[in-house]
Amino acid sequence: MNIQFLSIFIVLFTLSYLWVKRRFRFWRDRGFLQGNPSFPFGTLKGVGRSTTSAENLDYYYKKFKGKAPAVGLYNFLSPTLLPIDPELIKNILVRDFQSFHDRGFYFDKEGDPLSASILTLNGQDWKDRRVKLSPIFTSGKMKMMFDILDGISDKFVRTIVQEISNIDELEMRSWTQRLTIDNIGNVAFGIEPNCIEVKNSEFEQKCRRITGLTFFESLQFIFATEFPNLGRKLGVKFIPKEVSSFFLEAFIDAIKYRENNEVNRNDFVKLLLELKDIYTTKELASEAFLVFIGGFETSSTLMTFTLYELALNPDIQERLREEITNGIEENDGKLTYDMLFGFKYLDMVINESLRKYPPIPNQFRRAAKDYQIPNTKLVIPKGTNIQINSFSLQRDPEYFPNPEKFDPERFNEENIKNVQPYTNLPFGDGPRNCLGMRFGLMQSKMGIAKIIKSFVVTTTKRTPIPVKFIPPNPFLAPVGGMWLNLTKVQ
Ligand code: HEM
Repeated sequence: MNIQFLSIFIVLFTLSYLWVKRRFRFWRDRGFLQGNPSFPFGTLKGVGRSTTSAENLDYYYKKFKGKAPAVGLYNFLSPTLLPIDPELIKNILVRDFQSFHDRGFYFDKEGDPLSASILTLNGQDWKDRRVKLSPIFTSGKMKMMFDILDGISDKFVRTIVQEISNIDELEMRSWTQRLTIDNIGNVAFGIEPNCIEVKNSEFEQKCRRITGLTFFESLQFIFATEFPNLGRKLGVKFIPKEVSSFFLEAFIDAIKYRENNEVNRNDFVKLLLELKDIYTTKELASEAFLVFIGGFETSSTLMTFTLYELALNPDIQERLREEITNGIEENDGKLTYDMLFGFKYLDMVINESLRKYPPIPNQFRRAAKDYQIPNTKLVIPKGTNIQINSFSLQRDPEYFPNPEKFDPERFNEENIKNVQPYTNLPFGDGPRNCLGMRFGLMQSKMGIAKIIKSFVVTTTKRTPIPVKFIPPNPFLAPVGGMWLNLTKVQ
């Protein structure tokens, strides 16, 4: 009996071993150069524990750059392609978009309704949503929301003034998160989360839960992306249950309140409700929720690293303060939408911050059909996941000399023309690029403008120099927090 059991075990083990060995030859068999995989993580070794996904991809980008247009990697046992050549990246994102319209993200319409949004949907479902939602994000609609954000950021500055009368240094990642949560809670859910004034509110905790993934959750997410059907059967959730119930209820309450009280407010809730004949409440809630995820962590990341670099570069900070203060004073102390987007130096600073610290460091696509890479014999097989690492491109010294240097001049009127296409992708590119770019820029520029006009920002003993990124976090985030000193401008 024991011998029988042992024989079965040996046969199964040998078959599995041979299958895994064959799997790890996927790219080599198709003529691609490939990273060195090992069981069970493939080429993800250390991701989520000692390194971020962006830094892991960067390792392979550097290793294979100049040797091939793309390199084959393995997320666990699943083949994934890392494009290196900007020409190929252009083809994937724009020219041959019809072969790469999906992201291949995991979602579960039934078990986890908020996960099925424009970010995750595929094919025609995605296309229909994009067409219907795009009018919500025009600059005209953004202008309508400007005054709401203006009021909230003034409250933010007043609260910081009080805070710094007692405390020497502030953890600016959490402070900027509290600002963006209040902004988006207001415009996407029509409520006052009041995170700026009340530290660690329920709303704030729920938001942190969405993006602060544990190591296990980040592995679960990668696993479900690779094996979506199995993920659905196993009930893997993209969004923790308590968080999705909280946001679903908040959205339903907001709608009811609007209807019962005839509220007419210029925000995302109003614009989403204009689509209520086309979509169910759950579908609209999934989009409101996406505005939340898309809008809160990305913009706070952008503000956090911008403040960090301004603290490290006082000359740049001073020049920025001059531009903003003079602009506002010349307009009788009032900041307007057109002024905010007209500040040239602010735009250069924000662009440089997005280059060095892209809040979403990689872009995902999935091949919808077999695709032959032009001028080669290499074919990307249908169904393959693709990860474009903007983090690598934007820190590549060939495209951005001395990439560690924070230099807004890279984006002045003259130099910006020389940025090689498809090497700077903080908002992705092509028909599936970031839909909320204008809103993200509006709230981030507003936050930076108000902070820099009111405070001098400097480093402290706890400021992370050099900065390290939190390994399991899909967004770039500083280990240990971003501690900075803010002193009121006299
Ligand atoms: C600084 C802030 C932001 C950054 C850096 C950013 C970056 C990105 C990136 C890199 C993508 C993927 C693009 C691609 O795959 O080509 C994306 C997608 C998306 N973003 Fe943003 N984002 C920001 C703010 C926002 C905001 C505020 C919203 C909503 C109000 C938003 C909504 C979306 C949506 C809906 C998509 C998916 C579009 C689609 O699949 O059709 N983003 N964003």
